[in-house]
Amino acid sequence: MSVEATAAEVEIEEGDGVTRREFLNYAWLASLGIFTAQLAGVSYLFAMPRFRAGEFGGVFPLGPAINLPEVGIAPEKNSKGRFWFVRSEEGVYALYIVCTHLGCLFQWQATENRFICPCHGSQFSRTGQYLTGPAPRNLDMFVVRVEDDQGNVLAETPAEEGPVPTPVPDPDAQVMVDTGARLQGKHK
Ligand code: FES
Repeated sequence: MSVEATAAEVEIEEGDGVTRREFLNYAWLASLGIFTAQLAGVSYLFAMPRFRAGEFGGVFPLGPAINLPEVGIAPEKNSKGRFWFVRSEEGVYALYIVCTHLGCLFQWQATENRFICPCHGSQFSRTGQYLTGPAPRNLDMFVVRVEDDQGNVLAETPAEEGPVPTPVPDPDAQVMVDTGARLQGKHK
């Protein structure tokens, strides 16, 4: 190669048919492709729900609103979802089954019309309000959501505790309990 060889000539001669500039371009594009694929993978994992429907931490579908239990019927325990589903005059609640004192599992006592914890005797009303005993606060509750067939939320447990008012606007709307959304009971 003569001393006067141009830069273009050097590039052509250095590779096996691929110049250094082309090689660097390919390497850069390959890195960009790998980075984009990794980013897409991470975004997909973040977008995926962490829990499947019907497993604790996820959403528990309870069917159409028209099938809600009647007012005054005994609270129904959903062991898999770890909640008591309650219907009162005001609406529906999903109460976390764990006592707010030291974590025992309280039970519904029909004769007393209240929840009573077997460990230290804390008592709570049908809607989870603290009544007596060493528990420091009301029962925790999960968010109950009512959605139409388009997935629009028609009603939802308010952030400051309370029921989803019933009857809901659409009797065919789907009722679900989101066990990934727990509201802490208010302190007494
Ligand atoms: S754990 Fe329920 S009263 Fe103590």
